Amino acid sequence: MKILIIGSGGRENVLAWKIKQSLKCSKLFVAPGNAGTAAICQNIDLDIYDFKKVKEILIQLSIGMIIIGPEAPLVGGLHDYLISIEELSDIIIVGPKKEAAKLEGSKEFAKKFMLKNNIPTAKYRSFTKENIEEGYDYIENNPSPYVLKADGLASGKGVLIVNDKNEAKRELKEMLLNSKFGEASKMVVIEEFLSGAELSCFIFTDGKNYVTLPFAKDYKKIGENDKGLNTGGMGAVSPVSFVTKKFERKIHDRIIKPSMKGILEGKLEYKGFIFIGLIKVGENPYVIEYNVRMGDPEAEVVIPRIKTDLVDLFLTIKNNSLSNFELEIDKRAVATVMAVSGGYPEKYKKGYRISGLNDKSDSIYFHAGTKIDSDGEVITSGGRVIAVTSYGNNHYEAISKSYVEINKIKFKDINYRKDIGFDL
Ligand code: AMP
Ligand code: GLY
Repeated sequence: MKILIIGSGGRENVLAWKIKQSLKCSKLFVAPGNAGTAAICQNIDLDIYDFKKVKEILIQLSIGMIIIGPEAPLVGGLHDYLISIEELSDIIIVGPKKEAAKLEGSKEFAKKFMLKNNIPTAKYRSFTKENIEEGYDYIENNPSPYVLKADGLASGKGVLIVNDKNEAKRELKEMLLNSKFGEASKMVVIEEFLSGAELSCFIFTDGKNYVTLPFAKDYKKIGENDKGLNTGGMGAVSPVSFVTKKFERKIHDRIIKPSMKGILEGKLEYKGFIFIGLIKVGENPYVIEYNVRMGDPEAEVVIPRIKTDLVDLFLTIKNNSLSNFELEIDKRAVATVMAVSGGYPEKYKKGYRISGLNDKSDSIYFHAGTKIDSDGEVITSGGRVIAVTSYGNNHYEAISKSYVEINKIKFKDINYRKDIGFDL
């Protein structure tokens, strides 16, 4: 079967690396991909938001399966569009339909979903410019810190955590009246601040049944000791040592089961990965957010732990046959450390040549923001550049290996966190 992966990050590179190992995959394409995917399969230069072009490529290349990596095309309805095309009626699409993708595309939708299905989450209220005065009152009458969330997609930047009442009101005004996050902040969810350790939980569903994938912990802040600005993620580890059997059961009973029940009862057409961002408050799990895709860089530690053929897993979508499916998980720990461009997540320069990639290594380099220049050299082309993933008998061993290997990679102004996983 010919397979196309949509996206260009580390997540898509690890998906390509894994799918490439499947005997069921006769040819693999990634659109638009990066230098890492170009080395193992064929990149297609394609604007993934031009749905018509995506359709044409699928038909032209006789693609049998498409995996939609990032959230934006899912929230934009790529699945719905493709499935409406007669020539594509047999194609297997990994990723939910538009209505289901609202679980990530609208914080308000996700909150209502959780409320309806009794899923533990922070208390909240939503505001628009029409009731902004009520928003000010809400801030006035509730304790700090205030968590202000743009309702729509804002490339991971739409959440503000503010301590001061007046600043919270100013930010609310910026978001609602001055379009701080554009269309995404036409509605703002203000929620109770929850304090605890965060972790990422992943499910794969065929539309009816589901399997849980290994847990992971992501390191979102740019600086050591979780200081500084939020990023897409600076590193990750799996498994997560503070997830005991007892805590895992709570996650399953209180979060995963009711989420799946809500999806089925709400007739949300969902086939693909569900990523539940969790926070451990005391001994109990709460949902911070739903994402309708794999996490990045979590994918770079979760996918390498899946021993089962990923194409077989995706094929269960065809006949809802996941209930008989056994997922085999590698018991080893996996860690990834992300090398980023100096200045990221704020302004940074691109186009620097990357060296050291051909050194012999036990680790795996998953490319994110890289491309091949006209001389055939690999250069930086984004904020997050390369994730260095390693296996180990425990997470400490895996992390140590990644730190040895990341030292071999050189490009101007390279930066990475030196403390990934050290809190565990
Ligand atoms: P989100 O985009 O919803 O994942 O939020 C981004 C980050 O903001 C999360 O990873 C948390 O670190 C933080 N966050 C979001 N909601 C809350 C909350 N209710 N309490 C504390 N921190 C939060
Ligand atoms: N690493 C967090 C995310 O993928 O949203």
